[in-house]
Amino acid sequence: MESLWSATASLPVFPRLEADKRTDVLIIGGGMAGLLCAYLLEQAGVSYLLVEAGEIGAGVTGNTTGKITAQHGLEYTRLLKEFPVELVRQHWQAQTQAVEDLSRLCRKIPCDFQEKDAFVFARDNLEALEKEALAMAKVGAAPELVSDLPLPFVAQGLKIPHQGQFHPLKFLEGIARGLHIYEHTRVLELSGNTAVTDRGDIRGEKIIVATHFPFLNRRGAYFLKMYQQRSYVLALEGAAQVEGMYIEAEPGGLSFRNYGNLLLLGGGGHRTGKAGGGWEYLRQKVQRYYPAARECYHWAAQDCMTLDGMAYVGPYSRGTRNLYVATGFHKWGMTGSMAAATLLRDMVLEKENPYARVFAPDRPMLRPQLGVNAWEATRSLLTFRTPRCPHLGCSLVWNPQEHAWECPCHGSRFSQSGKVLDNPANKNMKKK
Ligand code: FES
Repeated sequence: MESLWSATASLPVFPRLEADKRTDVLIIGGGMAGLLCAYLLEQAGVSYLLVEAGEIGAGVTGNTTGKITAQHGLEYTRLLKEFPVELVRQHWQAQTQAVEDLSRLCRKIPCDFQEKDAFVFARDNLEALEKEALAMAKVGAAPELVSDLPLPFVAQGLKIPHQGQFHPLKFLEGIARGLHIYEHTRVLELSGNTAVTDRGDIRGEKIIVATHFPFLNRRGAYFLKMYQQRSYVLALEGAAQVEGMYIEAEPGGLSFRNYGNLLLLGGGGHRTGKAGGGWEYLRQKVQRYYPAARECYHWAAQDCMTLDGMAYVGPYSRGTRNLYVATGFHKWGMTGSMAAATLLRDMVLEKENPYARVFAPDRPMLRPQLGVNAWEATRSLLTFRTPRCPHLGCSLVWNPQEHAWECPCHGSRFSQSGKVLDNPANKNMKKK
């Protein structure tokens, strides 16, 4: 199951760590967030090293849909119910700034970047769109309500113009060359300011954890305040051009964008470790809407979800010093990574950044999702079924479509033979 992106990019290769090192900033994780941090620190003249357990771009970045947009579904109606308008406005500003910054970078790199409009659409719940338009207006956005969308059913949408789409791995190919990176170097633990890896020790005056799900369990309570979701994509030949990027307002709905002559149809998502639609759900939609289309690629993404819908970027926890984190981008990791890298660069340089408060990882945890996470974890821990997850011992669930074991607690995944595929687990699963 190779994504369209990994099949059509050729990322540079970096050496393994061969000796102990020292650096001003150590970045752990070679996905979009980690690489953008490295790129911005390189531009700022800061000494840094990035270590990646496998190969750069091989995780979530290679399995995204490659949309660069500040519009993330019906987000602002919900955020305004939970947060003061000023904070929500800053969230919107951080996203729009990230779109602008990332689009500017993309224009310098051959990554098939195209400026496109983004739409959140609904087939019948027009009222929800109207409420979202009002909420967005309160935070400074001006979405336009549009009918007659070029979708295979009747729908209306809220349009945000001047967003973008690109090839995420061609982009990484462009920014990674010349950066100080070690691949196939897994950080096993942190001891003070030193990362102990399987290839040697690295002392970093400051350390950024950009490992998708933060791998240190004892700090920050990320295993309580995050869960993960799977979502699925088909790349179709012989389907329509949709001239924009679309996400359905309903949770678990469909998404659309084109890449060249292909249509990327997304959806079928579910909490990792729970039942869900998967590719079969999408294939049923293809039968219905694009019966003449041919499936060229299929892949799935794994996303970290926070309690309140906003990412965690900043100091790792109250009890740690010079340790930072970037995680919880929901399904919007391209703009989320850009916003995170800019904020973390400023934190490393001890410069003020207006969005530090919005993304502060130590913000209050008392949200309804905390109860859902606690319930899922308790239920799974009390289930007497093997195999068990090596992260914190929850019972694993078989995903028949992906032939993988999944953990409903925090989303670790394992191959049929037990090899760890997705963190926070950092060990292979035992079959019995
Ligand atoms: Fe935490 Fe499985 S991922 S117990």
